[in-house]
Amino acid sequence: MIRSVIKGVGAYLPEKVLTNEDISKFVDTSDEWIFGRTGIKQRHIAADDQLTSDLAYHASMEAIKDAGIAASEIDLIILATSTPDQVFPSTAVKLQDKLRIKSGAAFDIHAVCSGFIYALSTADNFIRSGNYKKILVVGSETYSRILDWNDRSTCVLFGDAAGAFILESVYTEDNLLDVGIYDSIIRSDGEYREKLFCDGGPSMSGNQEHYINMDGKEVYKHAVEKQTSIVEELLEKTEIKIDDIDWFVPHQANLRILDATAKKLKLDKNKIIITVEKHANTSSASIPLAMTSAIKSGKIMRGDIVLLEAFGAGFTWGAVLLKY
Ligand code: ACO
Repeated sequence: MIRSVIKGVGAYLPEKVLTNEDISKFVDTSDEWIFGRTGIKQRHIAADDQLTSDLAYHASMEAIKDAGIAASEIDLIILATSTPDQVFPSTAVKLQDKLRIKSGAAFDIHAVCSGFIYALSTADNFIRSGNYKKILVVGSETYSRILDWNDRSTCVLFGDAAGAFILESVYTEDNLLDVGIYDSIIRSDGEYREKLFCDGGPSMSGNQEHYINMDGKEVYKHAVEKQTSIVEELLEKTEIKIDDIDWFVPHQANLRILDATAKKLKLDKNKIIITVEKHANTSSASIPLAMTSAIKSGKIMRGDIVLLEAFGAGFTWGAVLLKY
């Protein structure tokens, strides 16, 4: 049978760092409040001339190098973003051109903070179908462009970044869960779309003002509840026990959400990869960014069983279980 194996990973963070102290100079907040409520200390902000596709390019180049392949071998690009360069064409085709890839296909996926899980799940299914052999899966965001920098309740939470995986098709003789992505589940419930949204949009209003609006308490409650239940569902589906998991790489929204979810799952806290302190919430980039930094620092090793999960606006949520 065919499996999707992670052949390479990469990430990119823009140079400029904005600390909690920096933000407290222009809105009424403090490092104490931000760190105490979210675990965030700083975030990276894209330069004025850097677009989502530029961040994606840097992360992709690192993943391509890590995989030891040529960009031209990639036959599909799936890019998750909720901050595309423009309404159309897709950011994925711009990335395809920046990588000088002339074959295959490229498209965007829009599932906000769950975007990378949606993209990875989609890529895995394309590989299992036998139609694609090497897929570049990217999460890239410039949330600094959709934040109201006068709104202290949201501007402190997000940052800019990109992360990428190269997935490769591998043929395995038996049906055992011995290599690559074991399985994934994605879910959504549009009833909650007004709990977290970005206003404006070409069809709705043509409004040029487009900022994040959020009911923080509701998001928190649903994030913990839905991430816990989807992980339990995936573990049951794959017949893997929570103690068999070596590393848990959750979407990095906020330390309290990570801690509460791990506690509900009875997951050893030492197995959680946490990067939110340095990067804040980078939406669809957060999982590949956290995974790349954990691999580079020697935490996640080849052969480890890794659980990825995310929750975001929509609401959308999902989980992927894999052997790295
Ligand atoms: N600095 C100082 N005070 C602030 C700030 C700030 N940055 N932001 C809000 N406050 C104030 C409020 O004005 C309020 O003041 P008041 O009592 O005088 O009215 C007080 O702090 C409490 O506000 P709440 O919104 O009730 O604060 P809460 O304890 O709920 O914490 C938080 C807010 C951190 C956003 C929390 O609700 C949360 O973690 N929610 C999850 C949201 C999240 O992570 N979203 C990310 C996107 S979704 C995703 O990726 C999963």
